[in-house]
Amino acid sequence: MKTAFLTVIAFLSASFRLSPESAPTISISDSGDQGLPVAQEVVEYTLNSEIKPTKVTSGSIKWWGYPETILETTRSGDDLLVLVNKEYKLPQTYAPSDLVLASNAGIRKGEGYYLRNILINDLRDLINAAKADSIDLSMVSGYRSYSTQINTYNYWVGVNGIDGADKISARPGHSQHQLGTAIDFSSNEVADGLGGSFRYTKAATWLAENAWRYGFAISYPSGYETVTGYSYENCHYRYIGITNAKEMHDSGMILELYLRSKN
Ligand code: DAL
Ligand code: ZN
Repeated sequence: MKTAFLTVIAFLSASFRLSPESAPTISISDSGDQGLPVAQEVVEYTLNSEIKPTKVTSGSIKWWGYPETILETTRSGDDLLVLVNKEYKLPQTYAPSDLVLASNAGIRKGEGYYLRNILINDLRDLINAAKADSIDLSMVSGYRSYSTQINTYNYWVGVNGIDGADKISARPGHSQHQLGTAIDFSSNEVADGLGGSFRYTKAATWLAENAWRYGFAISYPSGYETVTGYSYENCHYRYIGITNAKEMHDSGMILELYLRSKN
């Protein structure tokens, strides 16, 4: 079974030019556990049993490590302001109840992913505003269930080892993609690919300057790796609503610190 999964990933890797900055593309069929279209083949995985929380001490160079004590999120997963990070994880059973196809927002490649309905109108406005500025946007990941994230994380452990994976991929329950409000963007400038080259696109620059106006915030900005626990991810944005995003933008805080102040 694992071999079959890795074969699929190998194909996706070749097709989408995976790089350590992004998780693999996840297909709709991976979301079958939410009553959405089911997988042709049931993939059963558990988190690699040798992976345990690592102790992070002050002065430790392991800025990507997990704390010894993992807590459950203090807000519901449905709450746009819920803090999901290396310390706070979502329940395994959490899934949004209002998932819809991302293509409802008019984003290219959106037919392959689900997002929460609550953000669709604002995402549509964002896409249209980008278009008006001659900016093309597509997406390469949206909602990922807990079980999909097991596959995603274990894939990166296989590629980079545990320390390498922990810099770029969340362990199951710790991913904002489980909220249905996180998007990995791409653009025709990089042939809708995943990876580091997106940072040099006009689309990435446009998002960095304008996404907050539509309720989105970059989750893992450059220079804050020791705060977020993840390497810079120029493509990964999370929706928190326009009012909150404006408050965050005006405060000068990055998303991680803004959410910590609310949880
Ligand atoms: N790449 C981000 C950290 C995730 O896996 O949710
Ligand atoms: Zn992402």
